Amino acid sequence: MQFKVKDLSLAEQGNLLIQWASTHMPVLNHIKQRFEKEKPFKGTVLGACLHVTKETAILVQTLKAGGAEVALCGSNPLSTQDEVAAALAKIGVSVYAWRGETKDEYYWCVNKVIDHNPIITLDDGADLVGTLHSKRTEALKTVKGGTEETTTGVVRLRAMEKAKALKYPIIAVNDAYTKYLFDNRYGTGQSTVDGILRATNVLLAGKNFVVCGYGWGGRGLATRARGMGAHVIVTEVNPVRALEATMDGFQVMSLSEASRVGDIFVTVTGDTSVVRKEHMAKMKDRAILANSGHFNVEINIPDLESLAKSKRTLRPNLEEYELKNGKKLYLLAEGRLVNLASAEGHPSEVMDMSFANQALCVEYLVKTKRLEPKVYNVPSEIDNAVATLKLKSMSINIDKLTQEQKKYIASWEEGTI
Ligand SMILES: NC(=O)c1ccc[n+]([C@@H]2O[C@H](COP(=O)([O-])OP(=O)(O)OC[C@H]3O[C@@H](n4cnc5c(N)ncnc54)[C@H](O)[C@@H]3O)[C@@H](O)[C@H]2O)c1
Repeated sequence: MQFKVKDLSLAEQGNLLIQWASTHMPVLNHIKQRFEKEKPFKGTVLGACLHVTKETAILVQTLKAGGAEVALCGSNPLSTQDEVAAALAKIGVSVYAWRGETKDEYYWCVNKVIDHNPIITLDDGADLVGTLHSKRTEALKTVKGGTEETTTGVVRLRAMEKAKALKYPIIAVNDAYTKYLFDNRYGTGQSTVDGILRATNVLLAGKNFVVCGYGWGGRGLATRARGMGAHVIVTEVNPVRALEATMDGFQVMSLSEASRVGDIFVTVTGDTSVVRKEHMAKMKDRAILANSGHFNVEINIPDLESLAKSKRTLRPNLEEYELKNGKKLYLLAEGRLVNLASAEGHPSEVMDMSFANQALCVEYLVKTKRLEPKVYNVPSEIDNAVATLKLKSMSINIDKLTQEQKKYIASWEEGTI
């Protein structure tokens, strides 16, 4: 068994974190119990490129319980929880991940996973798929299918499909209702605030808190920041989303206008160069910049470097840039996803649903005949099963349609009476 982690002696600490996550992941544990009996992955090699967190450990244990051999690397150089990586290595997972990888080390880890010749890939951001399709095409022949965890990855995969470059089918786990409605919204909302607070410990009440992007992540973040007493400003490029933010009670303006008034800026767009030199130059002294989108390109860091005369690290995940104009700006977690780099990522309760979708979609791909190389939605039976199991675990009952109601909503004859 091969692995490369920071320090194997952290394994016991990792086990405690994993146990804590497990107590909040009833859906995945339920699936794990079934997999233990049915062994759907017997003899199957799975290659995963996911944030190596305590919740990912529960997913990996679930897949292993189903008989899989799992090779795992991180999906971001700063998001690996070294204790968890050590604990996984100890139970026989081929894990290649440590916090603070360089770009070269990051791709070395991705390539090590590919060396295991996975049959199914689990990706978060499509770096594993991208590497397989560009530099490791010889390994494509053994791959039957894959799953993708996040919005940015799905966007990249759809572009590959459109360009006819995609060589195997991928299920867009991100697009399941039981994923994005909860993970992207409530998970990102809460954990992004958590990351900002752990890095800075600033008071949010009374601050002008600028959220760039009012998608699922932005909605969650704006709502949570408002709940902490911040005055939330939203910037958008999509007129419908901008209107929605306005009617949800947020102030909407261009980033150029917001730059003058914001105290904290958070990007969550999946786009590039959202916060640029012209914005930074206008910002107030001591403004804080953070990103919760997938890649570290949303805040243009070369622009920030070019405006700065010096920089220093003040606290973990908090860098102070002194600009040539005399002002100071603070960048959190090197512009990487602040909720994972500076906190622990999403709470286990939401990852329970995201990773239940992952586990069930991997099972679906293994059991189904080979599909065309396209991006597929999560089968609605899986989405509904995850919601049903989650409600059950929360002891929440819902009503059932009566025969009369089933007939009524399926018909067109009845109208005003
Ligand atoms: N931090 C996390 O743990 C986490 C979790 C889920 C998703 N993500 C990532 O967050 C990003 C956003 O995900 P989402 O699900 O909210 O996507 P989404 O598509 O629902 O929303 C993105 C929004 O950003 C807007 N946008 C694009 N360019 C913009 C710009 N220049 N200025 C202002 N707004 C702009 C779009 O119009 C859209 O409304 C993606 O990169 C996704 O992969 C991160």
